[in-house]
Parts: sequence; structure tokens; C-alpha cells
Amino acid sequence: MEFSVKSGSPEKQRSACIVVGVYEPRRLSPIGEQLDRISDGYISNLLRRGDLEGKPGQMLLLHGVPNVLSERVLLVGCGKERELDDKQYKQIISKTISTLNDTGSMEAVCFLTEQHVKGRDTYWKVRQAVETTQDSLYVFDQLKSKKSEARRPLRKIVFNVPTRRELTIGEQAIEHGLAISHGQKICKDVANMPPNICNPAYLGEQAKELEANFDKINVNLVGEKEMEELGMHSYLAVGRGSANESIMSVIHYNGAAEGKAPIVLIGKGLTFDSGGISIKPGEAMDEMKYDMGGAAGVLGAMRTLAEMNLPINVIGILAGCENMPSSNAYRPGDILTTMSGQTVEVLNTDAEGRLVLCDALTYVEAFDPEVVIDVATLTGACIIALGHHTSGLLANHNPLAHELLKASEQSGDKAWQLPLWDEYQEQLESPFADFTNLGGRAAGTITAACFLSRFAKKYHWAHLDVAGTAWRSGKNKGATGRPVAMLSQYLLNHADVGQDSEA
Ligand code: BES
Ligand code: MN
Ligand code: ZN
Repeated sequence: MEFSVKSGSPEKQRSACIVVGVYEPRRLSPIGEQLDRISDGYISNLLRRGDLEGKPGQMLLLHGVPNVLSERVLLVGCGKERELDDKQYKQIISKTISTLNDTGSMEAVCFLTEQHVKGRDTYWKVRQAVETTQDSLYVFDQLKSKKSEARRPLRKIVFNVPTRRELTIGEQAIEHGLAISHGQKICKDVANMPPNICNPAYLGEQAKELEANFDKINVNLVGEKEMEELGMHSYLAVGRGSANESIMSVIHYNGAAEGKAPIVLIGKGLTFDSGGISIKPGEAMDEMKYDMGGAAGVLGAMRTLAEMNLPINVIGILAGCENMPSSNAYRPGDILTTMSGQTVEVLNTDAEGRLVLCDALTYVEAFDPEVVIDVATLTGACIIALGHHTSGLLANHNPLAHELLKASEQSGDKAWQLPLWDEYQEQLESPFADFTNLGGRAAGTITAACFLSRFAKKYHWAHLDVAGTAWRSGKNKGATGRPVAMLSQYLLNHADVGQDSEA
């Protein structure tokens, strides 16, 4: 899809379609009024007759509107004036895109970016429109023998901004929006890929592909032999039951001076989590191919970062591993010595994510990071606590938590902080080892983070539990591309080139 911005009036546009908003009840937006005037009241007439109420998401496609240069006019309901919020705006954009795609308009000029959205500015509206468009056109059909192509797909969209002064801002919004959508796309592609194709080596190949495409990216892959030498016995134990080698991909992005401390992102990359010896029930077990969603998110954010060419140093780690039952798999009762030297009694082999991440957290100490953020589909408990709209956030440093919450608010990629208080640590006590990998039923997301926190003492660290947000279940099953937008926004803010989204 090609995107551009323009600042002009609707009657001057010669396009396959112009898209304008209508407020509830049956009230034209200022842009709509301009069109109405040149069409001698054609549009207001239709509204009076009750063809469109203006409810959010309502669509009415008009052909041959008198005196209008464009072939079509798409009227889009925007609800009550000044009451449009983030969620409705995105829904409206996404519905507009599918309508345009179905009606054979190959290009369109869209005035919805001039609509008032509560607390949001032009930069935000244009960027979200780009991200939402790309997201709603996404399909994963690489493995279908027949692909379904729209007959005359939408190819080009022009977003209108209110003043010429805002053109530069609009262009930057498109650039950022595209970079973020490209990151989200590879995140989704890799996450949707089935586990017989997407194994830890495949994650490594994806990292290598980034290296091939961007000068500032260098990748090295840490296999089982090197993990052995490093003493990453906890990570290795999780992968031991699998025929696929555990591989940790280390992606270096060097955008600043060599000595500048890096931001480290670590993604849980369980390319399949069967539960191991503590095997999961069969229902929906296929969805455990998405247990590498954290790694896919990190890969996506690295891609976005490289495309935006930000002047910072970032290291992205894809902690690739497969958790399988087998005669040489690790078992409940085993005591593992982690790379940090701390010992862990395994009480459940399905609490494997933390056992992989803990060694990755120790591994990155060597980089002297400014901050470390891990992203993981870590606990089913997070879905119980926050559902599918919101990622869980925990941190050992409040300013970092706040920066992430701010990035989340700006990008619309929702997150909510849970406490990491000391009281919860007691749930991990073990009679035989330093602690266990299981905290019991209560506060499962917090006790998992408590476990990780014991390996993140040497730096500022935050943990994002994306178990509920990285993919959708059910008939619309698929990866969401989250939390690429939040991470990218965090990096943008860090590089100080992001637009302040508060209007
Ligand atoms: N990958 C799962 C968490 C998960 C479950 C994410 C369902 C999304 C949907 C993780 O490895 C796991 O199995 N966690 C266990 C932890 C428990 C054994 C302490 C869980 O949440 O049940
Ligand atoms: Mn598990
Ligand atoms: Zn898992």
C-alpha cells in the first residue's frame, strides 16, 4: 500500500473515492458540508431522507455525486461530534479500508484524519490510520494452496491534514506508521508460522535476514554447545527433550557510539510449548506454537527500529527453544543450576518460560545494559487478570515502568502494571534448592515475574507478559503483532524523535 498526505479541499480531489465523516444525528462534518455545497445539497438531502444516521462505523457509498470530480464518495459514520475515541477511530478506519477494498476503488483520499479524536493530534491520527490499514489488510496465506486476492485491491491512500503546516508531521507519521507496520508484519508472519517450520533455527534465520537487510544490524547465534560452556543449564534443560536444537539469536543494532549502553530486549521464543512431562491438555494445544510471541515481538521491534534508523544501541534476543516430553526431557523434581549459579527445583515442566528467560537475563549482564525489557507469553494467569486487551507489566524500577506505560498510552498498545512486592517472593520457597519454578495458583503472573526478578538484580528491568495479547484464539485465530507498537514507541521516545501524542 502506498500512503501520502495532502492538505486540500474535497471538491478539488480527483480520485476513485473520497472518504468523509458524518456525525450523529445525520450531521455533516465541515468537509462534508463543502462537498454538499458544490453538489447543490445532494448529500444533505440523502441524510434528511434517513439513509445514514452517522453511528460509528456506518458506511454509505455514493456514485456520481453532482459536480464532484471523484467517482465515488464514501460517507462514514463517526458518532457524536467530539466523542470519537481511539477504539472507535481505529474501527472506523478498518471498516473504511475493507469497504474500499471490496468496492473496487484502487485509490482514495481520506478526510477521516481530520476528524476530532479525543486527546489525539494529527501525527497520531495519521500514524494510527497507516497501522490500522496495514493491520486490517494482513492475511497469512503462505501455506494455502490457493490464495484469495481482492479483485481490484486498494493500492493508494491519501490522508488529508487540516493545514499545510501539518504536512511534515503527516509525512513523519506515515514513515513511522509504515516502519511499525512492517515490524508488526514480520512479527505476525513468524508467530503464525507452524511449529514444524518455525523452530529455534528458523528464528535464527529470521534474525539473519534482518542482518542481511540492514547495515547497522549484526547477528550471532548461540547454540547448545556454547550454552553449555556458558553454564546455561536451565535454558538447556527445557530444550533437552526436543530434537530441535535450542538456539538463542542475538541481534545487535548499532545506531549510536560504541560505548553507549544498549537497551536490551529479550523475547521468550518457545516455538512450541507442549508442557513437557507436565504435559498440557490437548484442547487448543496448537496455540502453543504462539509461545514464541515474545521473540516475534522483539524481532518485529528490531525491524522497525532499523527501518527508522534511530540513533541508539539496542540488542534484541530471541530465546528460541522447544518444550517437549521425551525420555531425556527434564522432569518435575529435577534441580537445575542456572547460569547465575542459583539453583532451581523444577516443580512443573510447563513453567518453562522463566527457566529459559532466567539464563538469557544473566547472559545479557555482559552487555552492561542501560535497561533490559523481556517480553513473554509467560502465564495463563495474566489472561485471567487482564484478559486479551492489556499486557501485564512488572518492573524493578518505577521510572522504567512509567516510560513503558507512557509508550503504551501513546501507541494505543495497552499495558497495565502489576506489583512486584517482596511478599510474593515467599511463594517460590523450596526445601531443596534456592527456590522453585512454581509459585502456586495465587498471583501467577506476579510470582513468575518474582522468579525472573532474581536474575535481574544488576540492572533496571521490566517484564511484559503478553500471554493474552500476542494472539487471538477462536475462529479469527492469528498473531496480533503486539507489543511491537509499544516497544517501537519506547525506542522512539528514547531516541527523542517521537512526536508527543498528547494534543
Ligand atoms: N506458555 C504458557 C503460558 C500460556 C498459557 C500463555 C496459555 C498463553 C496461554 C506457559 O509456559 C505456561 O505453561 N505457564 C503455566 C505456568 C504454571 C505451570 C505455573 C500456566 O500459565 O499455566
Ligand atoms: Mn508452559
Ligand atoms: Zn510457555
